[in-house]
Amino acid sequence: RSMPWRKAWLDAKDFDGREREFGEALGRRAYEVWVSEVMLQQTRVSTVISYFNNWISKWPTVQDLAAADHEDVLAAWKGLGYYSRATRLHEGAKVMVENPAGGSCLLPSQAVDLQEIPGIGRYTAGAVSSIAFGEAEPVLDGNVARVLSRQLGLHMDAKDKKASDILWEEADRLIKHVSANPDASTSAIPGQWNQALMELGSTICTPRPQCDMCPIQATCRAYSEGQELLATRHQSP
Ligand code: ADE
Repeated sequence: RSMPWRKAWLDAKDFDGREREFGEALGRRAYEVWVSEVMLQQTRVSTVISYFNNWISKWPTVQDLAAADHEDVLAAWKGLGYYSRATRLHEGAKVMVENPAGGSCLLPSQAVDLQEIPGIGRYTAGAVSSIAFGEAEPVLDGNVARVLSRQLGLHMDAKDKKASDILWEEADRLIKHVSANPDASTSAIPGQWNQALMELGSTICTPRPQCDMCPIQATCRAYSEGQELLATRHQSP
C-alpha cells in the first residue's frame, strides 16, 4: 500500500559533510512519522492520507506546528475525531521547540526520551524511534498484539495488563533479535519490522484471520493448536 509517510531510509552517509541538512531532513522525517502515527492510532489508513497531506502542507516542521494557532490546529483535525490527539501534537511540538533534544534535530531519537514529552506514550515513542531513527524499539498496538498473541498461543485477553506486559516483552525481544542478527539475509531494519507486523495484523491476521495467506503460519501456536483459539479470542481492541 502506498502511504505518504513511508519514505526511503535517511542515511547519514548520504549527507557526508552536510550535518545541518541531515539534521533538517531527519527532523522533518521524524515529525512526519509522529504526526502519522498519532493520526493512525484511532483512524484507518485510507482516511488518514488526505488529513496527513493537508497537515504537512500547512505545518511542514515541528517549528511551524509549535507556532500555529490552536484553533487552526483543531480545524485541520475536523472530521478525524478524538480531538485530544490534535491538542497533544500541538502541545508536544511546543515542548520540543522550547526544550530541543541534544541530537541532530528537535525530536529525541530514543524512545525513553520521547516518552518524556507530554502526550507521547510507549507506542508512539517506539514508532518514531524505530521508523525515523532506526532504533531497535518495539511497538505494540491492537494489530501487533493480536499477531504476537496468536504466535505465542497466549490464552489471554490482549487488553489485560498481564497479557500486555508479556506482549511488550515479546515485541521487545523480537526486535532486538532481528535487528542484531549478524546474518544480513535475515536481519531487519527496525522500522520495517515494526510496520510489517502492524500490516500483517491489519490485513491478514485480523480478528477473522486468513491463515492460508499468512507468511508466518508455520510458527503460529494458535494455528497449530486449533482454529477455535483464532476464532474466539483476540477480538480487536
Ligand atoms: N498503523 C499505525 N501505524 C502504521 C504504519 N506505520 N503502517 C501501517 N499501519 C499503521
